[in-house]
Amino acid sequence: MRPRTAVIPVAGLGTRFLPATKAMPKEMLTVVDKPLVQYAVEEAFAAGIERIVFVTGRGKEMLADHFDYTPELEETLRGRNRLDPLQQVRGLVPTAGCLIYTRQNEPLGLGHAIWCARHLVGDAPFAILLPDDLVWSGPEHAPVMQQMCDQFESLQQPMVAIMEVEQQETNKYGILDPLEGSGGNAVLVQAKGLVEKPAPQVAPSRMAIIGRYILHPDIFSLLGKRQTGAGGEIQLTDAMAMMMQKHPIYGFRFQGTRYDCGDKVGFQMANLALALEQAEMRSRLLPFLNTQLGQWSVHSTAS
Ligand code: UTP
Repeated sequence: MRPRTAVIPVAGLGTRFLPATKAMPKEMLTVVDKPLVQYAVEEAFAAGIERIVFVTGRGKEMLADHFDYTPELEETLRGRNRLDPLQQVRGLVPTAGCLIYTRQNEPLGLGHAIWCARHLVGDAPFAILLPDDLVWSGPEHAPVMQQMCDQFESLQQPMVAIMEVEQQETNKYGILDPLEGSGGNAVLVQAKGLVEKPAPQVAPSRMAIIGRYILHPDIFSLLGKRQTGAGGEIQLTDAMAMMMQKHPIYGFRFQGTRYDCGDKVGFQMANLALALEQAEMRSRLLPFLNTQLGQWSVHSTAS
């Protein structure tokens, strides 16, 4: 059985990206020519997901508009015979009824946002995609949620995407504590524990959880306990750690590169990397980058 429903939480405040996110949703920030949320939606549908539950909040209406028709714009494009952009704007509107919206009235944390989707997910395994984690798998690999769903078909156990981070960075992530004998270079790593944002000196490993999950609906009753954790927020990682008494949880080493687009530097890296993937942009960007690099290496030698 593959997950048919995905939850995409978009109710966070995006404080790391102020002032850009004061009035505009963080998930609408654009990487090259698409908002972050569109990458997540495309990834979900590519994995065979049939319906997406958005957990939104105040000021996020623009997100729903992005996935709807725009009659005036489309009429203008048609009148000017601009068929490619017309096709693009119409093509990103999913079949009616496949996007469902609910609200998280207060941003109490990721765990609380997911809990808000409980009545819409039903009683089957479901996926979660955090849109500010952009995972680029390139043309040679399937998108990461598809990779996970393929694994889930045989595993049928909760899974989180993981990647190695530097030791001094463990306090920014949920960290997986691997079962003895699990780990190494295996694609699937069974966890014996999960810890949210541990200090580097006490982190059980460097395997960090990134924003892709497949979970069983049992998680909702644990999230419903509303226990707060790191940062005073209701943390998804803490509920998953409790869930391990019932189900084993596996870390999945995915093929691809994850960009933290909720962070200003990660966001710039994503823009640069994805723009350089496109031949036309690459040919114009590379001379510019070479000039910049030349200038900055002169600066750093001088300082
Ligand atoms: P982040 O952990 O990046 O939090 O959320 P944030 O509040 O958006 O950003 P910063 O840290 O203040 O800059 C990861 C995902 O979870 C959603 C966010 O919208 C984002 O897609 N989220 C987070 C919620 O939906 N509700 C919350 O209460 C927190």
